[in-house]
Amino acid sequence: MSEKMTRTMHDSGPGPLAGEVALVTGGSRGIGRAIALRLAALGAAVAVSGRDAAALQASEAALRAAGVPAFSCLADVTRAADTERLAAASQAALGPIGILVNNAGVGLFGPAHERSEEEWDRVLDTNLKGVFLVSRAVVPAMIARRKGHIVNISSLAGKNTFANGGLYCASKWGLQGLSGCMAEDLREYGIRVSTVCPGSVATEFSPWTGRDLSKLLQAEDVAHVVEMLVTQGPRSFVSEVQMRPLHKP
Ligand SMILES: NC(=O)c1ccc[n+]([C@@H]2O[C@H](COP(=O)([O-])OP(=O)(O)OC[C@H]3O[C@@H](n4cnc5c(N)ncnc54)[C@H](OP(=O)(O)O)[C@@H]3O)[C@@H](O)[C@H]2O)c1
Repeated sequence: MSEKMTRTMHDSGPGPLAGEVALVTGGSRGIGRAIALRLAALGAAVAVSGRDAAALQASEAALRAAGVPAFSCLADVTRAADTERLAAASQAALGPIGILVNNAGVGLFGPAHERSEEEWDRVLDTNLKGVFLVSRAVVPAMIARRKGHIVNISSLAGKNTFANGGLYCASKWGLQGLSGCMAEDLREYGIRVSTVCPGSVATEFSPWTGRDLSKLLQAEDVAHVVEMLVTQGPRSFVSEVQMRPLHKP
């Protein structure tokens, strides 16, 4: 797999996250891109990853335009070697990762009994195993520094069940379990592991046919919640946020 590595030479901008380094998986579009830009606006240096080189380049350019050090890396979160390379290259480019946002994910819907083994593997490997692999690559350096914040982008589908949601719900319920256990394993090291569980968000994740997009949550709403999590007070640990649109779509 080829790799895109670029780096800007600006100093970290002012703001509550000045001096912090964040890695956002799936930062090439949608919710991940909005989170990356929000963290940059708060002053963090930001690394983004994904599998689409052109989209990643565009995200990196937007981060650079925000005036922070930026880095992008082609990496598939389902592959252990990619995740290890992603963590090492991000840290080499920007410094120790203090904020990890496990955002990369796929949606695939339909009755579970009609889905293929390949589809099961794709959804579970991306939404669940990917979080395990990326976290495993990043956490040792956080433990060494005795600080860090991991935000896992889960879903209300990790709290509820619904028709056609079998594979996706399985992945996000699994993520809820993984996140809760990671939180208990890591809090003694000063590392918070939080989940954000949004309802439907207007992104390319789904065409949302027949839905009024203006009434759905927007990617920036999720980014705002991530901002709240990573800027919370030093004693507290917000473990989970559930998000719904104010007005029912
Ligand atoms: N949109 C919603 O309604 C909604 C609601 C609740 C939760 N979520 C969750 O929010 C997260 C982001 O979703 P989104 O709405 O922003 O979707 P999106 O617009 O489809 O973006 C998904 C992102 O994940 C990346 N990605 C997918 N598979 C990957 C892989 N194997 N390796 C690396 N990167 C991968 C994509 O980049 P590449 O394709 O370039 O790799 C892209 O950057 C997901 O975890 C999703 O489950 C979404």
